Amino acid sequence: MHIPWTSLLTAATLLTPRVQGTRTGPSSSPSPSPRPKNTTQYSIQELWALEKTFWDNFLYPANLEQTKAINSTLFAPDIQGRVDITRVFNGSTLNTEYLFGLFSDPTHLSLVGVPIAYSITQFTAAANTNLASATTVVTFNATSFGNLLLPVTIDTWIMWNAAGQIEQYDATFRWFGFLVDTLVGALAQQINGTTAAATAYLTQLLADQICATHDAYCTGANQQYADRDACYAFLTQSIPLGKDYELGRNTLLCREVHEHMVQYDPAVHCPHIGPTGGAYCVDDQSYSQKVLQQYFRTSWLIPEVGGAGQDVWL
Ligand SMILES: *[C@@H]1O[C@H](CO)[C@@H](O)[C@H](O)[C@H]1NC(C)=O
Ligand SMILES: *[C@@H]1O[C@H](CO)[C@@H](O)[C@H](O)[C@H]1NC(C)=O
Ligand SMILES: *[C@@H]1O[C@H](CO)[C@@H](O)[C@H](O)[C@H]1NC(C)=O
Ligand SMILES: *[C@@H]1O[C@H](CO)[C@@H](O)[C@H](O)[C@H]1NC(C)=O
Ligand SMILES: *[C@@H]1O[C@H](CO)[C@@H](O)[C@H](O)[C@H]1NC(C)=O
Repeated sequence: MHIPWTSLLTAATLLTPRVQGTRTGPSSSPSPSPRPKNTTQYSIQELWALEKTFWDNFLYPANLEQTKAINSTLFAPDIQGRVDITRVFNGSTLNTEYLFGLFSDPTHLSLVGVPIAYSITQFTAAANTNLASATTVVTFNATSFGNLLLPVTIDTWIMWNAAGQIEQYDATFRWFGFLVDTLVGALAQQINGTTAAATAYLTQLLADQICATHDAYCTGANQQYADRDACYAFLTQSIPLGKDYELGRNTLLCREVHEHMVQYDPAVHCPHIGPTGGAYCVDDQSYSQKVLQQYFRTSWLIPEVGGAGQDVWL
């Protein structure tokens, strides 16, 4: 089956955008870096402002400015981040590429495209702490799927340091399996095919893109595949496309995520799209190990409850 890419661009007209509640438009002047406060005791209004600052800068094209900074000033140098559908990410460089760079090119093949608006639908924080819990519905412009406007729900816990920089975040993509199925469903309608046919088509599109990126950036010591055929064969036959929770495992979807970052640092990211997965696209954790991983330096429990003794994440 070969469907011209251009025919795909009409796919999303099959799905009428029905995004509600996107009250915050693209930020023409992104929020500046938070003012250093020299204490981690923030008021609720300050925590709300810090939360908004992150999401304002998450939107395209504000995220381009963060990406260009290499190490976003919104992040602490030793920031720790975790995303349920992928894995953990250490340090400002990686998180800048991952949270901002990944969603900053509307012309590049990607699952969800670029974030253009957000609405915070749940938020709570305690005064004189440095953390907040929120749910944010982000509208993505899925530019690879005919500019389909896709609402993506992201639950977050965020902790800021005394300089107003994010030092820890824990993010969950709510209903992500439903989202992936919706994208595949749009493809299936476009090709008049079954879900299986659409999945095969998506596999072909992603593999082509990853192999093109490999050819362009992963040369010399960074080369992962002998040639284009070896690349395509590996990506389409040796590994699964991946389930919705497997974007940090040995799957094609994981390599799709990391493909976006190769351009920023081929030496670091080429192994992630290669056969080894370079420690990021690997099946290194069982379900229980993932759930019980003791990753964060600092507890997410506010001190008042004194619950650290029962916290298995510490
Ligand atoms: C921040 O607070 C610490 C301790 O109170 C103090 O030593 C330091 O000089 C302060 N730094 C700034 C930039 O105000
Ligand atoms: C970004 O941060 C890393 C790690 O701290 C550092 O090695 C690198 O030089 C920084 N790059 C820029 C452009 O600031
Ligand atoms: C990330 O940080 C955690 C906790 O400090 C550490 O165990 C892990 O090895 C780090 N991962 C990478 C890829 O550096
Ligand atoms: C989505 O992206 C396309 C391509 O960049 C653009 O033409 C379109 O206006 C965008 N849609 C919205 C609602 O921003
Ligand atoms: C898909 O099926 C519809 C209805 O049978 C038909 O009108 C249309 O031409 C088909 N499209 C393609 C691309 O085969």
